[in-house]
Amino acid sequence: MCGIVGYIGKKRAQPILLNCLSKLEYRGYDSCGIAVSNGSLQVYKDIGRVKALEKTLPFIKGMVGIGHTRWATHGEPSKINAHPHCDCTGRFAVVHNGTINNYHELREKLTAEGHTLVSQTDTEVIAHLIEKYYSGDFPGAVEMALHELEGVYTMIAIMAGEHRLVAARKDSPLVIGIGDRENYFASDVTALLDYTSRVIYLEDGDIAVITADSINIRNNGAGIDREEHKISWSVEDAQKSGYEHFLLKEIHEQPKVIRDTLSGYISAGEPAAELAGDGGSMDDMLILACGTSYHAGLVGKYIIEKLVDVPVRVEMADEFIYSGQAAAGSRAVVITQSGETLDALKAIKKLKETGCRVIAITNVVGSTVTRTADRTIYLRAGPEISVAATKTYMAQLIALYWLALPYAKVDIKKLDSLVTELRQLPVKVQQVLDNEAAVADCARQLAGYENVFFIGKGINYPVALEGALKLKEISYIHAEGYAAGELKHGPFALLGEKTPVVAIVAQDNTHEAIVTSIKEIKARRSPVLAIVSEGDETMTGLADMIVTVPRVDPLFSPVVNSVVVQLLSYFAAKERGCPIDFPRNLAKSVTVE
Ligand code: F6R
Repeated sequence: MCGIVGYIGKKRAQPILLNCLSKLEYRGYDSCGIAVSNGSLQVYKDIGRVKALEKTLPFIKGMVGIGHTRWATHGEPSKINAHPHCDCTGRFAVVHNGTINNYHELREKLTAEGHTLVSQTDTEVIAHLIEKYYSGDFPGAVEMALHELEGVYTMIAIMAGEHRLVAARKDSPLVIGIGDRENYFASDVTALLDYTSRVIYLEDGDIAVITADSINIRNNGAGIDREEHKISWSVEDAQKSGYEHFLLKEIHEQPKVIRDTLSGYISAGEPAAELAGDGGSMDDMLILACGTSYHAGLVGKYIIEKLVDVPVRVEMADEFIYSGQAAAGSRAVVITQSGETLDALKAIKKLKETGCRVIAITNVVGSTVTRTADRTIYLRAGPEISVAATKTYMAQLIALYWLALPYAKVDIKKLDSLVTELRQLPVKVQQVLDNEAAVADCARQLAGYENVFFIGKGINYPVALEGALKLKEISYIHAEGYAAGELKHGPFALLGEKTPVVAIVAQDNTHEAIVTSIKEIKARRSPVLAIVSEGDETMTGLADMIVTVPRVDPLFSPVVNSVVVQLLSYFAAKERGCPIDFPRNLAKSVTVE
């Protein structure tokens, strides 16, 4: 996690660094800081968000600088632990994204050699190592310092009075932005959209030196050329565009996301072919992912098992690393919107060691997963800024439908009608969004409770899990997602007037069973909010609140129902005055274990 930036050029670095950092806050936002060289190094940092730091800063003249926004790993969020970190002389400063495993030994060694380290962070050792190795060659000193590090150390270094920045990429992302007589480093292209659409994605082991008009990249001691890419995301994609929060904007973008993701696949042919066995059929499948992407994977299991009739196993990537099994030569799908989740990347490493072929589904071009998987299927969700995933999850569902449909063991008439419905989903999702006010009313009622259950059955069980995750993540209401039938095996003990249940009532073979569960819940006096399909009257007089969604084939019901649980979470969080786009303790891309 953490966001890092660097700028060198003909403009004042201070406002550029701050603007870039504000775009990277989704990566961490407990503290932040900048260092600008104006002859000497001017370093300013503090706990809190970039906007708060900005208000405290003087006018800094220099045209080269680095910046950082932090998600604490080593040492609590504090001014002293905030980056940039400097050496003893104050000539060198570094910003870092990652964790250095051997920092204890390095710290002890440096201290014994007379260095005074002031923070609790692992990063500070890098600045002192650069100081130690510097004898007139700044990039050389950085390279020597890096040789001592074990772990994840994507970093940028600045030296007072130098018209160069030196950066290294190791296991977490870093891009170079190319401008007109100016160059940038950033953790992610979204930071650079205001300035350039020309980027170079650095690879692991790359060490890059940029000046205002040159870029030199080395790997393993040799110079290397890396391809330049043009970013297709626009500045508007990464702005709130009149919405109060990114989250609401991103929820509302979902009809477009479905259209874009589908049209990308239609024009590219069939990405699904990659999943076919030699005989053109889909074999059993393993899906790995974390968090919300894991929930999308669980929906995928139901989709594929129902349509293709092959067994699908879905595992949390973070668990698979330690206890998972995959057959040599089999295929696995790894879903990660950011493409940087360490648990997902470690799972891929394990899969590849086992001899599996890995297909990644991601939203971020150039992300690490795209280099580690054998094949990447891209989502076309555009940049997702809010920490809580919504539109990328929706795009993941669409990708999974698209993967399964070519192998569907259904007659051609049914297949045609499913494809037609898939294409109509943007309209159905828009209808859910048009009903936002009704969902907001229910959310305001939920906002008054401290514990909520979400229940679903079959293909909507993962939607219940996702609803609970979203609610706790952004509104801080404790929520649990359950398969409806499981509730009576223990959690019933918690039911009562103070514990509402959100029930997803789908029009499929689970309908009768979930209605029965709701009756049992009502008998325990829990308030029930039912999400039902148009025309379903079974909840009238039974549920306390009802949200109606348009009718779709049951296979697509997670699409419309997910939008409701997203909106519920958003409006509940808003009612409770939560910092919706940047929930406490979280970051968008989880690059630590
Ligand atoms: C929740 C959320 C997380 C992510 C998880 C995996 O709203 O966003 O649960 O889904 O951290 O992230 P990716 O998909 O980037 O691997």
